[in-house]
Parts: sequence; C-alpha cells; structure tokens
Amino acid sequence: MKKYLIPFIAGIALLTTCAKDVYSPDACFQEDVLPIFVSNCTQSECHNSQEHEAGYDLSNYEGIMKGIKAKHPLQSEIYNTIRGNNPSMPRGSAKLTTKQVNTIKTWINMGAPNNSNCRTCDTAQFTFSGRVKPIMDSWCIGCHSSTNSSGGFDLSTYNGVVGAIPNNKLVGSLKHLSGFSAMPKNAGSLSQCDIAAIEKWVLAGYQNN
Ligand code: HEC
Repeated sequence: MKKYLIPFIAGIALLTTCAKDVYSPDACFQEDVLPIFVSNCTQSECHNSQEHEAGYDLSNYEGIMKGIKAKHPLQSEIYNTIRGNNPSMPRGSAKLTTKQVNTIKTWINMGAPNNSNCRTCDTAQFTFSGRVKPIMDSWCIGCHSSTNSSGGFDLSTYNGVVGAIPNNKLVGSLKHLSGFSAMPKNAGSLSQCDIAAIEKWVLAGYQNN
C-alpha cells in the first residue's frame, strides 16, 4: 500500500498548487480592472453613470457585467470590442495596451469576480513614483493626458500632477468635497487608501521621489 502513498501525496500537492493558481487574484476587479474602464471608457458622451452609450455604464461592476460572460472572454461583447489589432473600442482614442487587454481577459477567465482589497495597503509608502504615479496612470490619464487634458490638467507627468495641487483641487476632487468636481468623473471614488497616500504625498511637500 505504501508505494501508492507517495504519488497520492504528490497528486494532492499538485492539485493544491493548481487550485491556488486559479484563485490567486492575478486580476483584481477593484484595483486592476475597474480603473481601465473608468480611465478609458467613461469620458463624456461615452459609458459613464450619466450617459450609457450603447446601453453601457462602465463605471461600476454591475454595468460592466452586462457585457461580460464569466469564464468566456470570446463570448463577452466588451472583450470582443477591445481585443485584436483594430479594436472598435475605445472609440476616438488610443487602443488599450496589450497588458490592459490581458488583465481583463485574465479576470474574465477567473470568473469575473467582484473582488477587491487584493493587495496590502502600505500606508507608509507614498512616494510619487511608487504610489502616486501608478494611481494616476491607472485611474486618470485616459481623461487627463497631453492630448486630452480635461479641465486643463495633464496628469501623466510629475509637473502636471503638481499643477493640480493649488487650491486643494487634487485632494478636494478625490475626496469629493463640495466646491470641487468629484474625480474620477462620473465614476465612484478611489479607495480610501489611495486617497490617503496622495494626500500624504501632497502634505509632505509633493517631492519628485
Ligand atoms: C472620465 C474622464 C475623467 C477621469 C477618468 C478623471 N477626470 Fe478629472 N476631470 C475630468 C473633466 C471633464 C474635468 C473638468 C471639470 C468637469 O467637467 O467636471 C476634470 C477636472 C479635474 C480636476 C479639477 C477639479 C476642479 O474642481 O476644478 C482635477 C483636480 C482632476 N480632474 C483630477 C482627476 C484625477 C486625480 C483623476 C483620477 C483619479 C481624474 N481626474 C479622473 C474628467 C475626468
């Protein structure tokens, strides 16, 4: 009997490893998938909470799921519009990067869960390059770049982000304070952790670190 025990244990070990791969959040809805839609698809006259072009509000999970078939990317209308060499979406602006398209595909293959808090929030980390820039790149630059500087703000560079700080505009808009235009526009809000990191960076003198 003993000689069967080793392959049996090895088999269990293998199964556990595979199961872990499937459930390890390679793509997290809240942190990886949602910002791609918010930054690239919710511009005015597109798919935001106010304007549902083609019936789609892509600013939240429920709206996005209308065009997703869990586990079947190729049967998901949204995935089919963004993949390939000449995708039909986003219309009128640069196509999504291969990395962004793959993130969405991975997430659909995982079963398109509404998962969040996949990464530990390290409140001690609030440098520009390590924390602020990645947030801008994933959530904001679809509307705030050199070619599309909504409200006059290009948030794709350090100087551009610093230019949004005066009069508390950057932090006020992220915290949805009255007197400011709530950001990201027409689409919920960043996590408290991300907002706190940006505010800490501003209060510490917004260095290019
Ligand atoms: C879907 C497009 C869109 C996204 C995404 C977006 N913005 Fe904006 N933003 C705008 C527009 C348009 C304006 C101009 C004011 C208005 O129309 O509300 C604006 C204005 C602003 C302002 C000026 C606010 C004020 O009260 O004067 C700041 C600061 C800002 N955005 C920061 C951000 C940041 C930071 C992000 C990412 C977290 C972001 N925006 C994401 C479209 C967007």
